[in-house]
Amino acid sequence: MRILGDVQCAAHRMRSALIGAGCVMAAVACGGSGEKTPAAATTAAVDTVMPVPAESLLTQDAASQSIRRGMALVIAMRDSLPKHVGNDLSCTSCHLDKGRKAFANPWVGVTARYPKFWARTGTQVSLEDRVNDCIRRGLNGTALPAGDASMRDIVAYMTWLSSKAPAGGVTWGLGVDSIAPLPPDTVRGKSTFAMYCARCHGPDGQSGRSLGVQHPGPPLWGPRSFTIASGQARIRIVSAFVHHHMPFDAPGFVADSISYDVAGYVLSKARPDFPGKELDWPKGDAPPDLLYRLKSESKSATVPKL
Ligand code: HEC
Ligand code: HEC
Repeated sequence: MRILGDVQCAAHRMRSALIGAGCVMAAVACGGSGEKTPAAATTAAVDTVMPVPAESLLTQDAASQSIRRGMALVIAMRDSLPKHVGNDLSCTSCHLDKGRKAFANPWVGVTARYPKFWARTGTQVSLEDRVNDCIRRGLNGTALPAGDASMRDIVAYMTWLSSKAPAGGVTWGLGVDSIAPLPPDTVRGKSTFAMYCARCHGPDGQSGRSLGVQHPGPPLWGPRSFTIASGQARIRIVSAFVHHHMPFDAPGFVADSISYDVAGYVLSKARPDFPGKELDWPKGDAPPDLLYRLKSESKSATVPKL
């Protein structure tokens, strides 16, 4: 569990109180109301913005143009490379604010994190491998070939985005954060979805593009959504994402327990399959919330119930 800073905690408690059920969990996450704040939390409260370079400093030279093309690709790859994208998502559906938003899978500092050993494949992976993995699993698309110019542009964008990262690497804001795992109530999740999410993601979760809203959300399930083997198809990831970033125009007020309910509801729906998924985590060290069974697991292992 992340230790939140004082300021964030106060705001967090206030927002969580809006949806009553979650304020207890929020208080726990914040170390309990009125409790002494640990020293580490004070530092976290100061460093709440990811260190990113200013777009206005990009020029017209070849390097800047490559960065701009990479930026355009992560926002709208489907328009530029329709053959490589199989759904209605873009990279920035899940990597918010063009990969600059803390706890929304930011790419800031990502170039320093690769190549690395990755437990999901059981191999050493490059940044290009990792991008291709998200193209295949997140965008339900096909990988870009080695040496592809679009891949070079995407990596150029990520390298530029990482150019203000501290020497020791970015340590705050990575991933989606974690909130305490809770058993989801998908019935309550369904009504939460209708109340707080449907206005942008559509009443059937198939996107809000025809609703005429300012920030239409992408499909959350069904054939035009992410695959069952995307990192996003895990309740711990979606619940933390929703808790911090949704509703898009009023983020932060969906309490932990409510986030689990609605994430459980979203992930209980059918979505595109991903052939070969059973070969993930070959060493058997998979996270507990996958929606599919692995070859590396014992025969008695069952897919976790949401
Ligand atoms: C459906 C949501 C989703 C989409 C769409 C998506 N990603 Fe991801 N991405 C994730 C999640 C979740 C993670 C981290 C957890 C995981 O994959 O297990 C991640 C991780 C990554 C990482 C590794 C970050 C790190 O710090 O290690 C990179 C790089 C990345 N994505 C690039 C992309 C690019 C480029 C695209 C578009 C071509 C894209 N992603 C589309 C959800 C998504
Ligand atoms: C004001 C409109 C709005 C509301 C309300 C809203 N969303 Fe979103 N949602 C978005 C947008 C826009 C994005 C994609 C961000 C982008 O493209 O920049 C998004 C992205 C997402 C994603 C990541 C993308 C994906 O396909 O997985 C999830 C999950 C999600 N929303 C769930 C929810 C849930 C659950 C609720 C209700 C608690 C909710 N949203 C409410 C607009 C909204």
